[in-house]
Amino acid sequence: MTSLFDTHAHYNDEKFDADREQLFADIITPNEVNPFGIGFILNCGTDIQTSRECIGLAEAHSFMRAAVGFHPHEASAYSVEARDEIMRLASSDKVVAIGEIGLDYHYDFSPREVQKQVFSDQLDLAEKLNMPVIIHDREAHGDVMDILSVHKNSFGIFHSYSGSGEMAKQVIKMGFYVSYSGSLTFNSAVNLRESVKYVPLDRLLIETDSPYLAPVPYRGKRNDSSKMYETLKKLAELKEIPIDELAKITSDNAKRIFGMVGAG
Ligand code: NI
Repeated sequence: MTSLFDTHAHYNDEKFDADREQLFADIITPNEVNPFGIGFILNCGTDIQTSRECIGLAEAHSFMRAAVGFHPHEASAYSVEARDEIMRLASSDKVVAIGEIGLDYHYDFSPREVQKQVFSDQLDLAEKLNMPVIIHDREAHGDVMDILSVHKNSFGIFHSYSGSGEMAKQVIKMGFYVSYSGSLTFNSAVNLRESVKYVPLDRLLIETDSPYLAPVPYRGKRNDSSKMYETLKKLAELKEIPIDELAKITSDNAKRIFGMVGAG
């Protein structure tokens, strides 16, 4: 049976400090929460410090990879020096993507103009390195799409997708992958579930965003990769295909986008 690929997590978070290694041992093995087990996990950085932590985790665990970049929340701390350091970190063979990068107009922790500039600059960087990007888009769909439209060589993933079906069509047309998190299982996520039909099977991904966004019936609890089984189950139901088939498809898709075909 194919194990699952969690395309977005933050296991460097302090919420895992007490039991991180034990948890890893538990989730990579098939268990009662997730009969598939976890094959790979991508940890995503949000600034220099966390990007380094993600590389450290990937160096210590064969099933982990890292993404490095500045989250829109941290955009105000971005600089030419930071860019150089992200570029340097990206040369590690454990780093498979630039991220997470994007725009967050829900919290607006950094001014929007700064967010846009930092997003755009990191897209340039990813294009130069020919690496996929992990996009964080919260309540900023229009500007995210506008900025991507002028970065024609960028490719990658919309993480924890939250757009409409109409937007999914555009995202697919631009060559991007769509990754669904536990939010797909939330009661209120009617439009999100509707969007699934516009995403072809070969562009579908699943993720947790651990420790956040635990799917129903774990909503509100600390999330971990094994709970992603609930998201996979929901997605298989919406796509009307057997769950083990979708497990293999999503895992193969992740390996393709991250240049890991043949791994594990
Ligand atoms: Ni995240």
